[in-house]
Amino acid sequence: MGSLSMLFLLFFSQGQSSTPEVEERSTCGQCDERLFCNCSSRNYRRVPTLTITEVVTLDLSFNDITTVAEDDLREYTQLRTLDLRSNRIQSIHEWAFHLLQGLESLDLSYNQLAGLSPAWFSKLLSLQHLNLLGNCYRTLGPGGAPSLFRSLTRLRFLRFGNPALEEVRRGDLAGVIQLDQLEVYGNNLKRYDPGSLGDLWPLGVVTLRLRGPFQHDLALVSSILRDVSSPETSLVVTDILLTGKISVAPFNEINQRRVRSIMFQNATMTDEAIIHFLKVCHVH
Ligand SMILES: *[C@@H]1O[C@H](CO)[C@@H](O)[C@H](O)[C@H]1NC(C)=O
Repeated sequence: MGSLSMLFLLFFSQGQSSTPEVEERSTCGQCDERLFCNCSSRNYRRVPTLTITEVVTLDLSFNDITTVAEDDLREYTQLRTLDLRSNRIQSIHEWAFHLLQGLESLDLSYNQLAGLSPAWFSKLLSLQHLNLLGNCYRTLGPGGAPSLFRSLTRLRFLRFGNPALEEVRRGDLAGVIQLDQLEVYGNNLKRYDPGSLGDLWPLGVVTLRLRGPFQHDLALVSSILRDVSSPETSLVVTDILLTGKISVAPFNEINQRRVRSIMFQNATMTDEAIIHFLKVCHVH
């Protein structure tokens, strides 16, 4: 009798642990008369259902969402702003955003996306802001056609990159025409095909984090600076360590292309580097 109930218990507990957990969708009712639903910081593990379908602005930031399923958002066809930053998203269904054709702003930053799919963005013809910073993808999409951003001809604000980003390849930015703001986190970038950012024009404010390349691959830094520099561009160079004459050589590119301004943030420069920087930029 004793061993029989033991066996039963064992069976029962095994059965429980092997059942995949299907999390119920919660409901977020924090929607106001401006059609803004504030569902931020509420420990949601799935995209919640909303009490209104006419939602225009949906803030789902700072939850524990791990996946965006095909049907999670399809009712909200009036959405213009969708904020999913700082969740734990590892997967997004290829069609999850396909009915959001009026979407103007999409924030997927600081999640756990190990890869980016061109299918996510293929219907977002109105998109103007896209933030992809702080995930763990190593490349911008699978490579080859179609490019990740092919349909995003109205995009004006683009942020991408993370500590794992290794490559930016020719054609990765195909589809993007001009930008008011571009931010690239490339502290560990290992490969940059010349010209990859060269077709964006005009380009407004460009923020670059290239700490690793400034130490190990100045040719790569020069290629990037050559591609983003123009008289319309304001450059922000951040998180760098410049120690000597050689390390400032890439700035020759911005001098030749007469960029409007350059600003350093969180930069450490030796006296020697500063003197050579001023020489390279012909500041007397
Ligand atoms: C400054 O740069 C260092 C090195 O890349 C980085 O670890 C640190 O977080 C940066 N600080 C800020 C405030 O961004």
